[in-house]
Amino acid sequence: MIEHPHPRLPGATRPVALITGPTSGIGHGYATRLASLGYDLVLVARDEQRLAALATDLEHRFGTRSQVLVADLALAQDREQVVARLADGVEFLVNNAGFAHSGEFWTVPPDQLQAQLDVNVTSVVQLTRAALPPMIAAANGCVVNVASVAGLIPGRGSTYSASKAYVVSFTEGLAGGLAGTGVRVQALCPGFVRTEFHQRAGIEMSSLPKALWLSVDRVVAGSLRDLEKGRVLSVPGMQYKALTTVAGMIPRTLGARLNRGLFDARGRT
Ligand SMILES: NC(=O)c1ccc[n+]([C@@H]2O[C@H](COP(=O)([O-])OP(=O)(O)OC[C@H]3O[C@@H](n4cnc5c(N)ncnc54)[C@H](OP(=O)(O)O)[C@@H]3O)[C@@H](O)[C@H]2O)c1
Repeated sequence: MIEHPHPRLPGATRPVALITGPTSGIGHGYATRLASLGYDLVLVARDEQRLAALATDLEHRFGTRSQVLVADLALAQDREQVVARLADGVEFLVNNAGFAHSGEFWTVPPDQLQAQLDVNVTSVVQLTRAALPPMIAAANGCVVNVASVAGLIPGRGSTYSASKAYVVSFTEGLAGGLAGTGVRVQALCPGFVRTEFHQRAGIEMSSLPKALWLSVDRVVAGSLRDLEKGRVLSVPGMQYKALTTVAGMIPRTLGARLNRGLFDARGRT
């Protein structure tokens, strides 16, 4: 039995959350929300300046103490740094970093496809594996793995949707194994969210109906509410709850066709 499974940051007394990809979008929203709830943070991404600016901002606003870990999660040696920090114990892990590519699968350079797999899948598995033993020993902890509606409904894109389907399936399976341990896991499946995601990928989104856009705040609030309720799958927004429920009730081939018809499936992976 580990007596103090969750070492605090030096001199700190608050619980600690580690968030990947907090420099923009959903990760930024999650970091801000958890800071407001009294967590200290470990912030993991590549952009050192943005990480430092976020740490300073959260310290001013909430008195949050942040440790900045500059890491490219596509690189094994960088993931190792994060794994080592998680093995020391945190109360909350948000596996949020992830990305899509524009272009068809067969045109994207293989090393970029591999990097996507490493960030969207390998990192999620390795970081979760590192975080769980101290959480289980403490009978306390939360892991939120950011997947996507794209992981629930087939038909759009290839490697991105597949990576998110992995995260959903992985998290659901893990939840069964963790029952009764006091550790909660969630697969967060947002629809379209206003972040830097599509711009970074070079995916044109101007034709998407306004009603399908979600705000970061709504997604984070929905995730935390579902975590409280012990829901393993979180799909924020009524429009996406309806869409995924219907998709779950119709044959998979029809769902894939509808998805391709409703949203352009070309030029992305
Ligand atoms: N936006 C949507 O419509 C949507 C919908 C469903 C699911 N999602 C999922 O939500 C998650 C967050 O996306 P977002 O929409 O918030 O996108 P975003 O605004 O582009 O943010 C992505 C974050 O991931 C980090 N990141 C990307 N590659 C990384 C790498 N190699 N190593 C470390 N960090 C990396 C980025 O930080 P640095 O650039 O500083 O490294 C950034 O902080 C992703 O997993 C995405 O698949 C998004």
